[in-house]
Amino acid sequence: MKTLHALFLGLAMLATGAWADAPVAPKVDTGPLPAIAGGWADINPLRGNAAAIQVGREAFNQACAACHGADANGARSPAPDLRRMGRSCQRVQDEALRQRCQSDADHFFVKSVRYGKQKFGIVHMPPWEGVLEPSVVWSLRTFVENAPMQ
Ligand code: HEC
Repeated sequence: MKTLHALFLGLAMLATGAWADAPVAPKVDTGPLPAIAGGWADINPLRGNAAAIQVGREAFNQACAACHGADANGARSPAPDLRRMGRSCQRVQDEALRQRCQSDADHFFVKSVRYGKQKFGIVHMPPWEGVLEPSVVWSLRTFVENAPMQ
């Protein structure tokens, strides 16, 4: 009876897409990244950096692609297409306004990744706080922002 109960619980979790496992840090070499200040910056310090795009792609395909699609191609549902987040900021001509726009999107990205997504007690996305260091999270941000929309 206990076994059956555990089985049903397991099936229910699978059906709702709950992520039971603790998130595992992707294996990436952060050596090629430029040094950044400690802590969480207000705006992506690695924006546009070529090494960050590469590190971000590798980290993404190990840690995020199962839900958000390989290379962030947005093919997997219901996880959102991350390439669109804050992309319209690039069209803002005024420098100060563009930075405000990007900082806002960066903040939402970092918050989502650090604390994950829970609704009604169901984990839709695990929290990565303490698993991913800031340089890896900023590389992920840099990668999705530069991923082709095709
Ligand atoms: C177990 C599946 C899963 C994994 C793994 C996962 N995510 Fe998510 N993520 C989701 C889902 C589902 C949502 C939408 C949840 C919601 O809106 O309540 C989401 C939302 C987000 C959002 C907010 C997007 C928006 O437009 O609202 C960001 C940013 C994000 N994920 C980044 C990442 C990154 C980066 C990784 C890898 C480190 C990752 N996710 C790993 C499932 C996942």
